[in-house]
Amino acid sequence: MMRPMRELLEEAKKGGYGIAAPNVFNRETIEACFLAARKLHAPIILDVAYIHGVYECADLARFYEKRYPEVPFALNLDHGGPYEHIVRAIHAGFSSVMIDRSTCPYAQNVEEVKEIVKIAHAVGCSVEAELGHVGQGFEYEETRDAGLTKLEEALSFVEETDVDCLAVAVGTSHGVYKGEPHLEFELLDQLQKEVPVPLVLHGGSGTGDDNLARAVKVGIQKVNLNTDVSEAGKQALREALASTEIKVAGAGKDEFTPKKMNMQQTCMAGAAGFQAQLEHYMKLFGSENRW
Ligand code: 13P
Repeated sequence: MMRPMRELLEEAKKGGYGIAAPNVFNRETIEACFLAARKLHAPIILDVAYIHGVYECADLARFYEKRYPEVPFALNLDHGGPYEHIVRAIHAGFSSVMIDRSTCPYAQNVEEVKEIVKIAHAVGCSVEAELGHVGQGFEYEETRDAGLTKLEEALSFVEETDVDCLAVAVGTSHGVYKGEPHLEFELLDQLQKEVPVPLVLHGGSGTGDDNLARAVKVGIQKVNLNTDVSEAGKQALREALASTEIKVAGAGKDEFTPKKMNMQQTCMAGAAGFQAQLEHYMKLFGSENRW
């Protein structure tokens, strides 16, 4: 069942686990999320970038919600930009929207987040905002330090905006890291102790299992994942495209026909690769068997 993201994250905070939030964009990736969540009895957050179609993804999520009503999930707009994009996601029925003003001055960030909070809360939709700035992996070494979240600002930001969860910059970056990821666990610990709302980690990919497991243990409740699940899906697609044989349903256990996979089978293989990587992270974050 679709739930406000705030509720799922509050439960994760109480239970001391993290919820995987992969970027999804089509039927295969959305179905893979439901299958992984159902298999592991884990909650899931579907992160949708506006460019991938908020109305299309909302309809797909509703379709799988009917098929698997037992799966607790939130549908979240990832990195909401223009005001109109965010309002359209709310209109499409998202249970959460992120408004990303992390590159704006503090006062502007507060003002624009407050406006979205007012609209979203009127229809029971949660809001995620970012304070500090999580940059791109290729510029990691140059931008990491300047972007780190400041504790005092985080406290006043949450109070002024009434935001439901806060994406913090504690040393991760989006995509492939240039250099070694180095996380500020002490800062994260201070933030989780004092900031009264759940915390979100962007840039989960390439951060390393040990770092991510520790970040969840210290106090992260939502981990955004794009590059790793996407690359796992691509690798599975590559293998499917290169294969010269497929197993035939109903044939003997070890029988193969010398036939290449068709397009449908290839896409399904890609989705299976995406799902396997997602399941790995759900287990790592301790979100298995939570319902
Ligand atoms: P990665 O591609 O590094 O996993 O980042 C995803 C993300 O943070 C989406 O908001």
